[in-house]
Amino acid sequence: MASPLGLALLAVAASESMDAMRVAVLEHRGQKRATAFETMSANLEIYDLQIQEAAQRGAKLLVTPEDGLTSFVGNQRALWWDYAASLPEPGQAEAQLPCIEASVWWPLRRLSCMALRHQVALVASLIDMKDCTEEPEFPGCDSSRDGWLLLNTAVVLDRDGRLLQKYHKANLWFEAALDESKECSPKTFSISGFEEVPFGIFICADLIHAWPPLELVTKGIRHFVMPLSWTNEMAQMQPLGWQQAWSHQMQAVLLAANTRSSSCSGSGIYVQGEAKAVAYDLEAQADQLLVTEVPLRLVEPAASPIGCPTSSDTRLLPVDEGSKWKSFQLDMTPGDHSSTLCSAATCCHVSYRSRRQGEGYVLAVLNGLDISPEVAPWAAEACAVLPCQSSSDCLTYPSEALRQHSAKWFGEFESLEMEANFSTTQEVFPQVLATSQRLLSPRAWHLHRGARSGAETTLRLALNGSAVEELVSLQLYGRPYSRDSDIQQHCHCGPKVEGVLV
Ligand SMILES: *[C@@H]1O[C@H](CO)[C@@H](O)[C@H](O)[C@H]1NC(C)=O
Ligand SMILES: *[C@@H]1O[C@H](CO)[C@@H](O)[C@H](O)[C@H]1NC(C)=O
Repeated sequence: MASPLGLALLAVAASESMDAMRVAVLEHRGQKRATAFETMSANLEIYDLQIQEAAQRGAKLLVTPEDGLTSFVGNQRALWWDYAASLPEPGQAEAQLPCIEASVWWPLRRLSCMALRHQVALVASLIDMKDCTEEPEFPGCDSSRDGWLLLNTAVVLDRDGRLLQKYHKANLWFEAALDESKECSPKTFSISGFEEVPFGIFICADLIHAWPPLELVTKGIRHFVMPLSWTNEMAQMQPLGWQQAWSHQMQAVLLAANTRSSSCSGSGIYVQGEAKAVAYDLEAQADQLLVTEVPLRLVEPAASPIGCPTSSDTRLLPVDEGSKWKSFQLDMTPGDHSSTLCSAATCCHVSYRSRRQGEGYVLAVLNGLDISPEVAPWAAEACAVLPCQSSSDCLTYPSEALRQHSAKWFGEFESLEMEANFSTTQEVFPQVLATSQRLLSPRAWHLHRGARSGAETTLRLALNGSAVEELVSLQLYGRPYSRDSDIQQHCHCGPKVEGVLV
């Protein structure tokens, strides 16, 4: 017979499970072996141990990184066939319990058995294959290079082993061997026991694009999973800064699982910009599992994203092909300073007090296209304060120097305020990287979005006190999605205005 205390505890447990859910993110170092079978087996063995630990720590959902089972196989298509198979569609008979279906590709079978055994829902990365001779109508088949599609895919296995969902990555990044998904249906899932909470799925570089993330936000989704394999080379594209900023800007819960290597790290669990758990280590050999609780219902209002492109915007706002980042070395002699740097209509102003001159900081500004090798350029307007010696390339993130010397080696601030004027209304992602905690709470940002005059947007970001002492870099990164090229916009998002063509 339950005592009153026991009943009270039961009631608490029930109400807890209604309000929150324990979730896990694995930052995983991909194992590489001689063959596809050996490589995937080695990684699956690690997943098996990690899902067991996640289960023991109470997690109901585990997110693993992009390429986590295959590792990055390379840029030749021929290398990928052994790592790919035609995966069943959610809802098909084979998808009910792949664990016991001999016809299902073995890595998916093993993932299903793992999820079932530990009763933890699992998000994992596989390569789905489409035979265009069998399915000529499948989106993208009309432009298939060899009669097949090789799709970078996130699969979701429910806690009962069922294949719940499958999402094909829409925005590839340096993945010439694979095919970009042309499907325009965003993907969500709800795991058993938590049916009322839909999660949206996207992968890595999708985060900086309008589709599918903004489409999902516009549909009211507040919880997201993101497998990624996002490297640390680019100063303005640091994975932790982007994850936190996206969660903050979209007022969403984000579970981001990155690959771990000497050039790739940064995973986290975020609730409306607050980092509940973060992993970042460019040297660790072992994997890192993050487990924490996230709320199921968010009391603060949802974001209503702006700047979701329509086909007419693309024609109205041509991209200035010539634009590049400009930078300016900041005067770090101790004392008060201010500097302004503009690029076309984007203007950045910083006022700061320097405590100590170090190797140097720059103010950098971009209006136009941001670029990375073998990636379609994307439109951006940004202002950044970056640690950089005068002689070096300021958009290469100085991971090694930061590790050896910490940020103070580049100089020390006592206060710093940035004002940025952007030429059009757009989503602006505020990003502050710090030394010891890696990320500060957005409460320390003192972010102010000024009144818009005409199409312009003014933002101010101020750091002081202990927050600025921790500073590594700071940026306000705007994404005028409507200026992206058609390559970036194969699906349109946001509320559609029926029958109106401007
Ligand atoms: C930004 O715009 C405001 C309003 O037009 C102006 O007062 C301010 O000086 C501008 N700041 C910069 C850095 O251009
Ligand atoms: C930091 O700056 C903000 C806004 O500029 C100000 O309100 C706050 O009092 C300052 N805090 C400290 C510790 O200086």
